[in-house]
Amino acid sequence: MRTMKKLVVLTGAGISAESGLKTFRDSNGLWEDHRVEDVATPEAWQRNPDMVQRFYNARRKAAAEAKPNLAHKTLANLERYFNVKVITQNVDDLHERGGSSSVLHLHGRLRNVSSEKNADLIYDIGHKEIYMGDLAEDGFQLRPDIVWFGEPVPMIEPAIEICEKADLFMVVGTSLQVYPAAGLIHYCRPGIPIFLVDRKLPGVNLPSNIVFHEGAAAEVLPSIFGILKELT
Ligand code: APR
Repeated sequence: MRTMKKLVVLTGAGISAESGLKTFRDSNGLWEDHRVEDVATPEAWQRNPDMVQRFYNARRKAAAEAKPNLAHKTLANLERYFNVKVITQNVDDLHERGGSSSVLHLHGRLRNVSSEKNADLIYDIGHKEIYMGDLAEDGFQLRPDIVWFGEPVPMIEPAIEICEKADLFMVVGTSLQVYPAAGLIHYCRPGIPIFLVDRKLPGVNLPSNIVFHEGAAAEVLPSIFGILKELT
């Protein structure tokens, strides 16, 4: 049997937009009426942990109520033709619920919370809320298991290894503003086909061989399914 080609897909907030989850940089730099620095940094957690918990409780609830859209489902369907590896910056679980079997979360997961002192002590709480005073088994405060701005990105090394082995690469719904995630595209072998799906072309340096498909991910991905299939 012929081994399947590896299709690596880097996704961002845009792929979940049609599921009703807001992207980060589309509304005057505000995210659900908050400045990112007020909710998604270690400093915010030190200054106002109650507010940070409330913010993520609300995000967790919104993600639990959202449903995977045709973009998530199309990536899952592509597993019939490719060895598909999804690398997502998203903290929702819509790729998994859409049927994708290999999903690496670069920036953590809303469903997970961890001990403030031991990042390896992780609990899957589903759609539940957590508050200050809720403790991990080691006695320390539980926090959202989210990679905040200024924190290391432990999953970047495995993500780089996946990108280096890609036969095809696709970027969906990310402004490519946030590193190290945005740099992953530069780890692909030179010359492999690279597709970019977004409502607008990100204003950053991109490899010259990129093929840009403009539009909403839930419309574009099903429409290029046939083109992708031809590349098996
Ligand atoms: N279909 C496709 N693309 C879309 C859609 C859609 N329906 N709606 C918006 N987009 C695109 C926007 O044009 C933009 O390029 O999705 C991208 C969203 O960009 P950001 O809001 O910057 O989100 P993302 O790139 O995922 O952010 C990266 O930054 O805030 C941090 O850690 C957080 O993971 C996040 C990271």
